[in-house]
Amino acid sequence: MITTDGTNSLRLEFIRSRAKENLEAPENLNDDAAAQAMKFHQGIPGYQETPLIFLEQLSRCLGVKGIFVKDESKRFGLNAFKGLGGTYAMFRMLCAHLGWDPKDTAYKDFQGDGIPQKLSQITFITATDGNHGKGVSFGAKLFGCKAYVLMPGGSSVHRAQAIRDTGPAVVEITEKNYDETVRLAWEMSRKRGWLLIQDTAWEGYEEIPYWIIQGYLTMAVEAAGQLERRGIAPTHVFLQAGVGAMAGGVTAYLMNHYRQNRPAVMITEPEAAACIFLSAKAKDGRAHSVEGDPQTIMAGLNCGTPCKITWPVLRDFASGYLSCADSVAAFGMRRYAEPEEGDEAVISGESGAVTLGALALVLQEKAFSRQKEQMGLGKDSVILLINTEGDTDPENYRGIVAK
Ligand SMILES: Cc1ncc(COP(=O)(O)O)c(C=O)c1O
Repeated sequence: MITTDGTNSLRLEFIRSRAKENLEAPENLNDDAAAQAMKFHQGIPGYQETPLIFLEQLSRCLGVKGIFVKDESKRFGLNAFKGLGGTYAMFRMLCAHLGWDPKDTAYKDFQGDGIPQKLSQITFITATDGNHGKGVSFGAKLFGCKAYVLMPGGSSVHRAQAIRDTGPAVVEITEKNYDETVRLAWEMSRKRGWLLIQDTAWEGYEEIPYWIIQGYLTMAVEAAGQLERRGIAPTHVFLQAGVGAMAGGVTAYLMNHYRQNRPAVMITEPEAAACIFLSAKAKDGRAHSVEGDPQTIMAGLNCGTPCKITWPVLRDFASGYLSCADSVAAFGMRRYAEPEEGDEAVISGESGAVTLGALALVLQEKAFSRQKEQMGLGKDSVILLINTEGDTDPENYRGIVAK
């Protein structure tokens, strides 16, 4: 087993919460909503279920029944899960634009007579730290539309290029932080008549993010099915959060799907941009933002303001919140890259790996035995993780994993 370099540098804070057992989770994030999104995704050329990897030897080493990883680095060749949300929201937006009923529409209908010409007039705009922009560029290519993608200052040029390489998107790196870049995208959409497709919600901008979140559910439906085929259900699910849209959507789905036997959901964030953790800690029920210009290697999770739609879900249904140093993500990346003998290696980037880093630390380090107990982790635990990205910044990835 890899040994850690002591728990001082591998910092992790945990807040326990009591999930509301009798509360119903939002209906529009239930099995039906998820099935509709999945039906659309299945119609996209090249759609394939992503693998669910059983880290059997690691589970044995860490003393739990099973650690399962849904490997979203394999999604649509995009190296991250995000394209699920962008493509589904574009589908819904274009159905609305054309006056079509999404229930009776499939991807192939967009190739019908005269439709491509209409679609080629449409421009989508978004702000992104990378993966969502790639999904939007991919979606623009699928539907034959245009796309304009803004990135916060300091964004990786590799990530910007990857967006351009994925589809027709024009990419601009701004000098603003993430939240300000989102605001700029909104202003530009107003001025230029472009369609804003943003993966977070605020007052007055909720329908499109809801579609994005529903799109993410395809991976949750697949994972639940893959576990069911093995005859098991998760006792714990660790979800990484930026604005918390993905984590909130998946949490709501899990609460609906496993109504009689809900898993404990642990929300995991970088300590520099832990807006969900901060909001939970405030204990006033409201969402709070992290101010300033946070720096973390977990680019996909570097968001200072919780998504308006999903914060209540995370507040009411999560069983705990984790705030992690960057070294925890790096530790997770190395554990994935250098597996126990007999386990499959997984390529996992900074935002993808933090949940395994946190889980492995809590399970293996005596210093975290209280947290392990509070999380209810033990020999019967079946833990689901989502590797939300592969090596989306290959240079950083190599630098970290080679250490
Ligand atoms: C790889 C990766 N994981 C997780 C997330 C978190 O998603 P959300 O911002 O919905 O919390 C992101 C967001 O961009 C991401 O890129």
